[in-house]
Amino acid sequence: MDRFEILHEIGLTPIWRLRAPARPGPAACEQEQPHAVREPSAPATALERTVRIAALDWSNFAEDVAACTACGLARTRRLPVPGVGDIHAEWLFVGEAPGAEEDARGEPFVGQAGKLLDNMLAALGVRRGQRVYIANVLKCRPPGNRTPSPLEAEACRPYLDRQIALIQPKIIVALGKSAATTLLNVEASIASLRGRVYRYEGVALIVTYHPAYLLRNLPDKAKAWEDLCFARATLRGVSAGASRL
Ligand code: URA
Repeated sequence: MDRFEILHEIGLTPIWRLRAPARPGPAACEQEQPHAVREPSAPATALERTVRIAALDWSNFAEDVAACTACGLARTRRLPVPGVGDIHAEWLFVGEAPGAEEDARGEPFVGQAGKLLDNMLAALGVRRGQRVYIANVLKCRPPGNRTPSPLEAEACRPYLDRQIALIQPKIIVALGKSAATTLLNVEASIASLRGRVYRYEGVALIVTYHPAYLLRNLPDKAKAWEDLCFARATLRGVSAGASRL
């Protein structure tokens, strides 16, 4: 839904906007017409936006994210955080949203949780930028690191879907509850979602704990390691299956 349709739904139309005066003098008000959304300069509908994002390539992806105003988080964040890594990666790690340090640097997982994620990657024999891509459900930081709202997650989803289509990873690892419940469209705990292979956009997906949670719950690190070994075995199975085709 575009802005006009949303305002119309909630009974806030007609919209009045300032019209620049033809000659110096006070600006006049004019009524925004419903059909104005079809003018070339009118904001795109949600569907038009999704179709446009689905056609992006790497040369214009980050720029498009930076210009996005779909959910309003662009007003409060500093830098957009589109994602980082190998654009031909086998592994795609998906977190929740940028925090303060990510917001300042424009790169995902650069704070304490990021250090733990890097150690987890090293244990798997890969590293950031080499066979691995790291992204978040949201590309902009929510104020105070609050949990993303379902509307924000839905508004940002076309970007993640486009990244998946461009990268074509062999495995997606959903880090934490936000990523898991957004991607799987279920409301459930990580404990109940672990240990199974799901599919997202045709790609194998497994669920594990968020590194920030693991920093506070050290005993669960062993479970996260189990999950990563399970993901690695799944990836090997996917690769072996692909080479038999
Ligand atoms: N937590 C996340 O989910 N993503 C980041 O990029 C940083 C912290």
